[in-house]
Amino acid sequence: MTGRLEGRIAIVSGAGCVGPGWGNGRAMAVRFAEEGAKIFATDINEDAMAETVERVKAAGGQIETMQCDATDRASVEGMVDACIKHYGGVDILVNNVGGSAKGGPVQMDEETWERQIKSNLTSVYLSCRCVLPHMAAQKRGAIVNMASTSGIRWTGAAQSAYAATKAGVIQFGRVVAVEYAPQNVRVNTIIPGQLHTPLVEVRLAGQRAGGDVEQLLADRLARIPLGFMGDGRDTANAALFLASDEARWITGTEIVIDGGMSVRCD
Ligand SMILES: NC(=O)c1ccc[n+]([C@@H]2O[C@H](COP(=O)([O-])OP(=O)(O)OC[C@H]3O[C@@H](n4cnc5c(N)ncnc54)[C@H](O)[C@@H]3O)[C@@H](O)[C@H]2O)c1
Repeated sequence: MTGRLEGRIAIVSGAGCVGPGWGNGRAMAVRFAEEGAKIFATDINEDAMAETVERVKAAGGQIETMQCDATDRASVEGMVDACIKHYGGVDILVNNVGGSAKGGPVQMDEETWERQIKSNLTSVYLSCRCVLPHMAAQKRGAIVNMASTSGIRWTGAAQSAYAATKAGVIQFGRVVAVEYAPQNVRVNTIIPGQLHTPLVEVRLAGQRAGGDVEQLLADRLARIPLGFMGDGRDTANAALFLASDEARWITGTEIVIDGGMSVRCD
């Protein structure tokens, strides 16, 4: 531990994972704790956070968990209040909840479209709505939102709602960053590419490759100039930088973490 977030209080949403291993939320909670942050981990599925808690404690970190539905206003308000009551404030907010649904506008039913908007975009709005007044009052805060390369490029499959909502997350972050810059609240966005997280085995293979995990991994790897797959720890290292004082003059922008995939056009 080098104390890059020493004493900072960090809410991480979606801090569990669909399976064992390095999902993004879990990796960010653990990496931030390794650097001295006190973690307030939230997830709609309390059980999904068990491994996160274990790993944070193994790293000598501090963590409190709370079940919270990031798409429900009352649930998010209660969660932010609970964090402030427990730790005395909130310095860092990571909006990590989200996920893709397959299909272009013709294949996708309206319910799925609406669910995608709630999960990927409304969740970001709701937590910002609750946390920003506290950060503005203390004149310090760092918000890190999770987008995806699907929000800036075609990435191999029709996922129109996912693409549209993740593009929305990027622009939402930019305008909130300018609005809250006078209060020293920074807002930045992580844009991960096609990582190898547990999501690939648990959900994506069924969506994209008829359940053939090896095929899907090979397809994803073939797009990556660096020639190897990243995972949640790569996301976490970038998020750590953006959340820390090292990024004190960085706001309203994005870091793409994709092994070079989005630059390629061959
Ligand atoms: N895995 C990838 O390859 C990849 C690539 C680009 C972007 N992302 C983005 O990273 C984020 C997390 O991805 P991951 O792969 O770690 O996912 P994951 O599904 O493994 O973990 C997400 C967690 O969020 C929780 N969750 C889902 N809905 C929730 C809700 N309404 N309220 C609270 N918690 C909820 C789940 O229970 C789960 O524990 C998402 O925003 C995703 O779009 C992932």
